[in-house]
Amino acid sequence: AIERTLSIIKPNAVVKHNIGAIIQRLEAANFKIVATKMIKLNQEQAEGFYAEHKGKPFFDALIDFMLSAPVVVLVLESESAITAYREIMGATNPVDAARGTLRADYGEAHVTFNGVHGSDSPESAAREIAYFFSDNEVNSY
Ligand code: CMP
Repeated sequence: AIERTLSIIKPNAVVKHNIGAIIQRLEAANFKIVATKMIKLNQEQAEGFYAEHKGKPFFDALIDFMLSAPVVVLVLESESAITAYREIMGATNPVDAARGTLRADYGEAHVTFNGVHGSDSPESAAREIAYFFSDNEVNSY
């Protein structure tokens, strides 16, 4: 089925001028970009987005990182978008990510600074898209 998923180009990739390279890879992989914007997250937005991780040992470092520079959030649409995007992202830790995946190519050698985020299920995709975009900001074409 045609699905939508949320992608975030994280601060390290933005600062290293990799927004365009990542978007090029997404479009080449046949994802349709149906919404996008750049946001400088505040503490409340970042903590709310990652609420499921609150209390975990990596939470504070994750939030600090996500506040360190703007991010680019995108809604991607394709057949089986959620699993298809997770495949091209690669493993959460760039050290474990397969060659040629986004995290291997645009993440640092540390799990916090992994370059990109993607929704992990249909439920989280719906929540995460609605977290950043209103219905009328998500396009069809
Ligand atoms: P992301 O897909 O954005 O979802 C949660 C983020 O927490 C993850 O990518 C990593 O950047 C970060 N993180 C840091 N340490 C860990 C860890 N040990 N396990 C999972 N995620 C981690």
